Amino acid sequence: MMGSRSATHDKALEWAKGTHGKGSVGTFADTARFGELLFNCVSGVASLEALKAAGEANLGSKVLVDISNPLDFSKGMPPTLTVTNTDSLGEQIQRAFPTLRVVKALNTVNAGLMVEPVAVANGAHDLFMCGNDPDAKKKVLELLNSFGWKTVHDLGDITNARATEGLLPLWVRLFGAFQSPQFNFRVVR
Ligand SMILES: NC(=O)c1ccc[n+]([C@@H]2O[C@H](COP(=O)([O-])OP(=O)(O)OC[C@H]3O[C@@H](n4cnc5c(N)ncnc54)[C@H](OP(=O)(O)O)[C@@H]3O)[C@@H](O)[C@H]2O)c1
Repeated sequence: MMGSRSATHDKALEWAKGTHGKGSVGTFADTARFGELLFNCVSGVASLEALKAAGEANLGSKVLVDISNPLDFSKGMPPTLTVTNTDSLGEQIQRAFPTLRVVKALNTVNAGLMVEPVAVANGAHDLFMCGNDPDAKKKVLELLNSFGWKTVHDLGDITNARATEGLLPLWVRLFGAFQSPQFNFRVVR
């Protein structure tokens, strides 16, 4: 289920139509109630507001994969980070919803690559993950592996979102240089 501010969001309905009955749309609250595993795919500056609309009771102790980035485009390109260095959006979400099991992942790659890593360098590139709950990270890792991710670096607790969100200023500049989002980072040692 894809949630938005309206249960009849045009683009969401269009998406659902293409899923041959597998996908549905609803409000943020409907979606949080429905989901077994939740994804925050809302604009970074609106993420806390959207999760508040989803409702603390509906979020409960579910696993939330937070793919958002705290990017401020108000002054044009390149965007700046709205939170950085000593805090992160991942931590802000975890603090606002203490029982929710937030796992920061996938925010460092383009949407297409998230679910098809093999599309670049035959999948030989890396992903980062962090969060406070080991079981939640295990579940997310299984899902990432099913998408084809082979190397996922678990950086530790959610404070490490400072580092993965902090990659975005570099990511957007590489995007500008390559004129394509089809690239990723690989750690060699
Ligand atoms: N696109 C990518 O390849 C990519 C890759 C990595 C991470 N991310 C992260 O994923 C998130 C979504 O990215 P995006 O590319 O789809 O574009 P975006 O412009 O960052 O986000 C657009 C989405 O946020 C929603 N939104 C905006 N303001 C809102 C508000 N006040 N309340 C509730 N919802 C609001 C929009 O809903 P409406 O349609 O209703 O306006 C739309 O669904 C971002 O945090 C981004 O950093 C994206």
